Amino acid sequence: MRLIVNGASHEVAAPDHERLLTTLRDRLHLTGTKLVCGRGECGACTVLLDGAPAYACLTLTAACHGREVSTIEGLAQDGELHPVQQAFIDHDALQCGFCTPGQILAAVGLLDRQPHPSEDDVRRGMSGNLCRCGTYPKIVRAVLAAAEGGAGNG
Ligand code: FES
Ligand code: FES
Repeated sequence: MRLIVNGASHEVAAPDHERLLTTLRDRLHLTGTKLVCGRGECGACTVLLDGAPAYACLTLTAACHGREVSTIEGLAQDGELHPVQQAFIDHDALQCGFCTPGQILAAVGLLDRQPHPSEDDVRRGMSGNLCRCGTYPKIVRAVLAAAEGGAGNG
């Protein structure tokens, strides 16, 4: 099957039961997408699938044939961090960093569909991404700052 990952086309010979998370990490060596719970509870594996956040641990690779997958490795362009990545740095919105790729992809997806969210919108929109370090206040601040800076499509 063929996947378009971060704009590049990849032919992958994955079995029908293989999860997108396995394909990304073990076949394409894109290890920025993290495996934590492996069962749809934490959001560490969040990627964008045709622009919408999806848990890669719950997504079958076979269901992604011909679709666009975006991972943390594809966000920076021409050496410039994505504005959401930069906002996470500027607002110190990480501690161990293990949840961070998923948080950032979830935030990018949120701002693409809702460019001017309220604080409640951000909390609700990011509720599928857990942070064991409890960095939530800074994550919310970073997402709001990225929105104020025009990171969303609108
Ligand atoms: S690793 Fe996919 S939701 Fe936790
Ligand atoms: S920064 Fe450690 S789990 Fe979120």
